[in-house]
Amino acid sequence: MNNQLQPKVVITIFGATGDLAKRKLFPSIYRLYKSGKLSKDFAVVGLARRPWTNEILRENVAKSIDEALSPEEDLEEFTSHFYYQSFDVTDESSYSGLNMLINDLEGTYNTEGNRVFYLAMAPEFFGTIANKLKQYGLKDSGGWSRLVIEKPFGVDLESAKKLNKELRAAFDEEQIYRIDHYLGKEMIQNIEVIRFANGIFEHLWNNRFISNIQITSSETLGVEERARYYDHSGATRDMVQNHMLQMVALLAMEPPISLTTEEIRSEKIKVLRAIRNMKPEKVDDFFVRGQYDSGDMKGKSVPAYRDEADELKDSNTETFVAGKILIDNYRWAGVPIYIRTGKRLAEKSTKIVIEFKNLPMNLYYQQDKDKHPNLLIINIQPNEGITLCLNAKKSGTGALAEPIQLAYNHNAVSGINTPEAYEKLLYDCMVGDATNFTHWDEVALSWKFVDTLLDVWSKNVANFPNYESGSMGPDAADELLAKDRFHWWSF
Ligand code: BG6
Repeated sequence: MNNQLQPKVVITIFGATGDLAKRKLFPSIYRLYKSGKLSKDFAVVGLARRPWTNEILRENVAKSIDEALSPEEDLEEFTSHFYYQSFDVTDESSYSGLNMLINDLEGTYNTEGNRVFYLAMAPEFFGTIANKLKQYGLKDSGGWSRLVIEKPFGVDLESAKKLNKELRAAFDEEQIYRIDHYLGKEMIQNIEVIRFANGIFEHLWNNRFISNIQITSSETLGVEERARYYDHSGATRDMVQNHMLQMVALLAMEPPISLTTEEIRSEKIKVLRAIRNMKPEKVDDFFVRGQYDSGDMKGKSVPAYRDEADELKDSNTETFVAGKILIDNYRWAGVPIYIRTGKRLAEKSTKIVIEFKNLPMNLYYQQDKDKHPNLLIINIQPNEGITLCLNAKKSGTGALAEPIQLAYNHNAVSGINTPEAYEKLLYDCMVGDATNFTHWDEVALSWKFVDTLLDVWSKNVANFPNYESGSMGPDAADELLAKDRFHWWSF
């Protein structure tokens, strides 16, 4: 592996005692280190309020790696690269202390002044931290400095603009890496390849041949320990504004003229600009919101959202959203893109279904309704792969057709060990590849679209709860497609 692809770096994690660091970041850094993608010249500084020590942090790092990956080897050498500093984000001496520590570590580990500042903590401090990093000279080193930001990036367009302004006062756009972890998923990255490396799909990828597209990201978990965050967010801010609209952009974009970050982004931005903004009075024709009731999940009864915590008792927050998105351009005019996401649904799964138009004549079926459209299914998770639904002759006498499936399952190919999304994104950030991060223009356009929904919904009390835990959401989500004579495909 050459030097250029093996970054030397000091990674500073704000929020090192938190859940994200524990579940995703520590195991990802370890996997990068094990696979040789991270140079041995690296250090990680963990920051949080708690009065931990280097030793406590190292024990926690080892524990999180054990839980996530159960490695057989001793983790001492790896964890010795981790350092802890108790940190108050508003206190100036915390920043000068951090600067000294990083300078020291740069001497010890020879990291050439390369710095990643990873903000894995409450968003209200993002702006303050970025500015203090600048003020105390932490981003002026002999190497590169990058700022990684977790979502939520604001709660609406206005707050996102304000946050962006604060960040941009300290860091340039090229130094800001806004994480959307869906963009690190193997099969999401595969959307472009499936489309642009296969004539049989790309030639048909338009309103002449596709009748509709369905994107479903369903979860079985409820709100868990995140009631405080989630109740102010809801499924629209939590999933639609970012992950779902990013998938729409990748599915609908034009082929980029090259695979550079700028070219890909500019095509995605064009899609987001072409999404039809709804008039407020039309919101309920295009979107459905839901909140889960109690129910039965795999034989276990689970409580309603409103019974998950005291503060949720009268909540009007949506835990489910389904909607119809229209893209007003030459390629997509007239093709609905349906999205659906929610908590406490029947299964944990993310899938994209491309439904092709039926042939005009029915030669092989007894009735028109028996016709099966061709479908391309992109399985994002938990299985990774693609399935193509075709029609073939039913064996035996007669000339009737029946549906068959051609399936490719990525997980079943030996030797393929799909990296975690965070592992890929951290690596991309360290090598300066921002393709799979969201540009400010994408964030702004996505907020602009969902703000209309949120605004209308905030003014009306919904009739919640309206779907049972363990179902696939409210009936209205099925009716949304039935109005257009479609239905959700499930596999
Ligand atoms: C996060 C949301 O961005 O995505 C969570 O905040 C959600 O509420 C999660 O559970 C889903 O991610 P994944 O990778 O499990 O589909």
